[in-house]
Amino acid sequence: MPASIADQRGADHTAILGLGAFRPARVVTNDEVAGPIDSSDEWIKTRSGIDTRRFAGEGESVIEMSIAAGRQALESSGIAPDQIGCVIVATSTYTMLTPACAPQVATGLGMKETPGFDLSAGCAGFCHGLSVGSDMVRAGTASHVLVIGVEKLTDAVNPEDRTTAFLFGDGAGAVVVGPSEVNGIGPTAWGSDGEQWEAIRQTKSFADYFLELKEQGPDVVRPWLRMEGTMVFRWAAHSLEKVCREALDRAGVATDDLDVLIPHQANGRITEVMARVLKLPDTCTVANDIEEMGNTSAASVPLAMEAMLRKGQAKPGDTALLIAFGAGLSYASQVVILPGVPV
Ligand SMILES: CC(C)(COP(=O)(O)OP(=O)(O)OC[C@H]1O[C@@H](n2cnc3c(N)ncnc32)[C@H](O)[C@@H]1OP(=O)(O)O)[C@@H](O)C(=O)NCCC(=O)NCCS
Repeated sequence: MPASIADQRGADHTAILGLGAFRPARVVTNDEVAGPIDSSDEWIKTRSGIDTRRFAGEGESVIEMSIAAGRQALESSGIAPDQIGCVIVATSTYTMLTPACAPQVATGLGMKETPGFDLSAGCAGFCHGLSVGSDMVRAGTASHVLVIGVEKLTDAVNPEDRTTAFLFGDGAGAVVVGPSEVNGIGPTAWGSDGEQWEAIRQTKSFADYFLELKEQGPDVVRPWLRMEGTMVFRWAAHSLEKVCREALDRAGVATDDLDVLIPHQANGRITEVMARVLKLPDTCTVANDIEEMGNTSAASVPLAMEAMLRKGQAKPGDTALLIAFGAGLSYASQVVILPGVPV
């Protein structure tokens, strides 16, 4: 006869209790990235909505940026490091395959014996992490979870590739997820389409690269991030409306009730199309952090959230729709209540 195994239950409701952000010090203009790709400030602004991006430098590694954003999220939540039951780091640009970076992030934040793991879902990573973290708190697996979205895309993007070099930047955003009297994180609408895996991809695996190096010598080109821009644009602008609607329906929230739309900051034009097809009320403000930060992949949603709260474009307690999407192709969306402005 099988043993009787004790079950566990967690919180009835969850919410984002604190928010943190880290923006690298170095601001990079369009003119600076335009040279090697024969582009211009005007072309980049018109096609992507980007004015500047940040490039990480010394002391701004994936781990260091994660710790800085995580520390701010902890401080603004009032939750002590030893109350965190798990650290989830969503990233696609931590260049060590083993070990994951989350345990070092947890240790760097003063946590002891706290579980931590990395999560790879491309630009959709933060909303995946938020979903997993919230479910952990509901299930009783952790009392509080620190969810971090972080990228150092300058390690992955070829500065001479016209399809990517102007688009991406570096940074980190983090939230503390924990129990709440009223629900602050809605059900997740998510999915993936592996048939379109080539739309955003690494040009070759590192195993193939090392084989080529051995067989063909040192002139072999290293793996870079590659994107089929038009394919991604069409998919994002026209297929994600139903994902947003599913997240709203499952949360029981109408578009008219939305104060804020915070989409992954992929491209300003994709955001414009998305806001138009969703027929948002005039009172709903739309995140536009891409103008200053470029596309920071898994970091973009929490960074955009922080920017809106800091600039007064949104306020604590507002109802926001999050939607993140990217390589995989993968996507995830949920309705949340915005936390307080980071301290
Ligand atoms: C990348 C993107 C801006 C390119 O715009 P596009 O209109 O599709 O560009 P195309 O590749 O069709 O090229 C259009 C023209 O611009 C030129 N061009 C392409 N890249 C350029 C660049 N970086 N600078 C200047 N000109 C460029 C092309 O040569 C072409 O010129 P032509 O009309 O004289 O032939 C656009 O496809 C896009 O935003 N895609 C979505 C990307 C995205 O959001 N990714 C993130 C997902 S997480």
